[in-house]
Amino acid sequence: MSKDKILYEGKAKTIIKGPRKHTLIQRFKDDATAYNKKKHKIFKGKGILNNKISEHLMNHLKAERIPMSFIERTNDRDQLIKECEIIPIEFVVRNIITGSIAKKLALKEGIKLKKPLLEYYYKEDALDDPMISRDHVEAFGWATKAELAKIDKLSLKINTSLGKLFKKKGLTLVDFKLEFGRLKSDKTKVVLADEISPDSCRLWDIKTNKKLDKDVFRKSLGSLLTAYQEVASRLGIGH
Ligand code: TMP
Repeated sequence: MSKDKILYEGKAKTIIKGPRKHTLIQRFKDDATAYNKKKHKIFKGKGILNNKISEHLMNHLKAERIPMSFIERTNDRDQLIKECEIIPIEFVVRNIITGSIAKKLALKEGIKLKKPLLEYYYKEDALDDPMISRDHVEAFGWATKAELAKIDKLSLKINTSLGKLFKKKGLTLVDFKLEFGRLKSDKTKVVLADEISPDSCRLWDIKTNKKLDKDVFRKSLGSLLTAYQEVASRLGIGH
């Protein structure tokens, strides 16, 4: 462990120098944070569950030809990934109204949208990740028009693909957040980066609408680990 060169310490992950040029190690931590770190708790084993869930979902998307930074899971905590220049935007896809959009626009929770809604948030903790428009992204040079067009298309494809996968497992994909980056080895290539896990998705039981994601922690609804274990076991992920 001591020889690991930490490049970045995030809220739920640590980024470590990789074994080869243009690679990194993404290490999943047990920390859970919410409301821009105002709420923080450690759940022993959460990182292991998220590592395995994200590996499963990334492999599913890889089979559908989604370009990604993920290479492989190397142990319980770590993934080998391609090094990227992260685009500083959180791309949120919503299928059902809940969370910040319900609050911001005083909308009734649980309404299914006629078509998926794609939103952009500027990744800046000091500003509480403000919602921005496509024009802001282009105007400030965070991504080009062509990159955004590609990311929109990929985000909707990921939504369809994961929505179907979760439906088969008795789960509704309510909404989720994606991150994209440009490969360090070829900056013309935009790829899916970061993770996809119950930290970054809302997943509800299809029959009961029981929440099986980080809202369990945000809203103090019960055991976060039990919820994440339920998602892992529905996806067929063993211990
Ligand atoms: P929101 O309703 O709070 O805007 O969240 C929408 C989705 O994005 C939800 O699945 C949680 C995810 N998300 C993150 O993964 N990280 C974040 O910082 C935020 C604000 C949301």
